[in-house]
Amino acid sequence: MKKALKVISLMLVAVLMVMSFAACGSKDDAATGSDTTKEAKTPAVKVIEINLTDEDYAFGVDKNQPELLEKVNSFIAEIKSNGTFDAICNKYFAGGTPDVIKSAALDSTKDQLVVATNAAFEPFEYTNGDGYSGIDMEIAKALADSLGKELVIQNMDFDSVCLSVGQHKCDLAMAGLTVKPEREEYVTFSTPYYKASQRLIVKGTDTKFDSCTDAASVEAILKTFDSSVKIGVQNGTTAQLYCEGDAEMEFPGLNAVCVGYKSGSLAVQDMINGNINYVIIDAAPAACIAQSINEVN
Ligand code: ARG
Repeated sequence: MKKALKVISLMLVAVLMVMSFAACGSKDDAATGSDTTKEAKTPAVKVIEINLTDEDYAFGVDKNQPELLEKVNSFIAEIKSNGTFDAICNKYFAGGTPDVIKSAALDSTKDQLVVATNAAFEPFEYTNGDGYSGIDMEIAKALADSLGKELVIQNMDFDSVCLSVGQHKCDLAMAGLTVKPEREEYVTFSTPYYKASQRLIVKGTDTKFDSCTDAASVEAILKTFDSSVKIGVQNGTTAQLYCEGDAEMEFPGLNAVCVGYKSGSLAVQDMINGNINYVIIDAAPAACIAQSINEVN
């Protein structure tokens, strides 16, 4: 009986792994694996599938708009309970077809919901043709519709996202944004809508972390690195804090050198180019970046 359960759970894990592999982007022909020679070769990069942190994503609301905060919170509760949130997530984690969300031009004479994001963070936000896709972008569109407002998406560097809401240039930050008290200087956080974690991306040939089983074993190795090791992160993100240390998040920090990039994919590309050794980024974007980079390398 126990054995049968184990077999079933192993099968489930395998199915889930296939699902998450098929999750990112729409380059599905490569993901179906019809080309068997491709699967046999060492991938350019791999994600160490161990959660290093425990984070909550929330939306960052303009501090001067408490009524918007209330509406955002009840909207989150509504889409969580009526299945809309899961349906949106399934598009990105279970191979559905993402919507392309168009941004209206900013016009202060119109009733608009102005959302600040950094659209280089698939599956939460990324550019798709002349529009945007991603879990946050679909929620933004549904929220704007329910508020009867036109949606404006302002795409900027991640480290400007909270700031722009703090300066009241945008109403809302929707950017796979981790709740962090320090950011409350600029925004008021909504209720959390997603649990996230940082993960490590390594070169396909790097076997150092292969036998790790938990965060402690990954961290034990990371701690041995001195300043000859370079770790890439997206500027202003939790990953940067994880590398550099942050009392508020209880991150002790590493001795390796932290190198900042505009996006996680630029960091991974630079790792392939041999300029840095590792990349740390949120788990779902890590999977997407690794998949798309491994398809072309
Ligand atoms: N969750 C991380 C943070 O809040 C990374 C978010 C990056 N988001 C983005 N849209 N680039 O720091």
